[in-house]
Amino acid sequence: MDLATGRRVRQFFRERFGGGGPPERLFFASGRVNLLGAHVDYHGGPVLPVAVDRGVFVAARVRADRRLRAVSLDFPGAHDFDLDAPPNAAAAGFAAYPLGICVTLEEGGARLRGLDLAFGGTVPPGAGMSSSAAILVATATAIAETQGIALPPLERGRLAHRAETRFVGVRCGIMDQFASALGRAGHALWLDCKDQSHDYVALPSERMSFMMLDSMTRRELAGGSFNRRVDESTGALAKIRRTAPGATCLRDVTSAQLEAARGDLTDVEWKRARHVVGEVARVQRARALLAAGELLEFGSLMGQSHQSSRHLYEVSTDRLDALHELSVDHPDCYGARLTGAGFGGCALAVVRRGCEESFQAHVVEGFARRFGLSPAVHPIGFGGAPLEVADA
Ligand code: GLA
Repeated sequence: MDLATGRRVRQFFRERFGGGGPPERLFFASGRVNLLGAHVDYHGGPVLPVAVDRGVFVAARVRADRRLRAVSLDFPGAHDFDLDAPPNAAAAGFAAYPLGICVTLEEGGARLRGLDLAFGGTVPPGAGMSSSAAILVATATAIAETQGIALPPLERGRLAHRAETRFVGVRCGIMDQFASALGRAGHALWLDCKDQSHDYVALPSERMSFMMLDSMTRRELAGGSFNRRVDESTGALAKIRRTAPGATCLRDVTSAQLEAARGDLTDVEWKRARHVVGEVARVQRARALLAAGELLEFGSLMGQSHQSSRHLYEVSTDRLDALHELSVDHPDCYGARLTGAGFGGCALAVVRRGCEESFQAHVVEGFARRFGLSPAVHPIGFGGAPLEVADA
């Protein structure tokens, strides 16, 4: 965790909201990378995310009234809302996320006091590392801790997911919010998005490093492409269910059922559903490989996942494809794929520990030759569950 950013957030809070009154408290929630399971969470599939040491800090102080004030080092604007008459998400800018947590908590029966909140992150927004989930989980943590509301980790994840889908309006699955709320250092989270059961897979961290590869393009989830993929693939499910009525989500669909429904599907629906069915099978296989430390075989599933995301789900970009190709071309790379929603953002590579520098030089040089600009390529460490940060 980058404590210098935590200190800047604290300082920023004092500049904007004054240092008087009770001291502000500082909290941190992790972003995530997803090792495997692209666009399957909202189809009930299993995913394998890892909480990382980059995320979002929030400095928070409870108010005597019912106003929610929010500022951020990363987004423009100073927001000031009345919790008794909250605006809708479209009118709230980045503050739709913390406001969504408050509104959702109150819908569930809580009665909140107002809050002053200052945010600052070490995950670039739109980079595919779940900055929005980290804002939501950091806010939920700050409210739980400063207002004495019991929010066990699973509830925190569910609350953050409800806020993002129902209030902000992104039809995402539960992966990002759960990864941030339930993260454990040194482990991947095995999350079954159909029944929300979860478990942890210990990672062979003495043998591997995660490298983030930033394509230097940002995407905006609320901007439509994401929700369009949700529509296309749920459209496919509706048609498949005519011949496979027992399937409640795409995760339930077998290859044979998909094949049987092929004639009913448009080309786009067929590709989207084929990605999901194949990706679910890959994640199932990957869990045992990862637990056994079979990194080469695990990495090859990452490569298949990238190709499927590229050709079937069509969420990759030229730059992400180049980052993938350059990565797997390096002899010490086990595997690489786009991580997060795609449409820009980051790729993730798993490389042999000790080879980070030569890997970085190889990718940066190849990318610069092709696109004329340097991608940010750097190792990324483990995060964990959300926490209060007293030493920043
Ligand atoms: C975004 C969404 C997640 C998930 C991924 C793609 O990060 O928020 O729910 O669907 O994209 O795997």
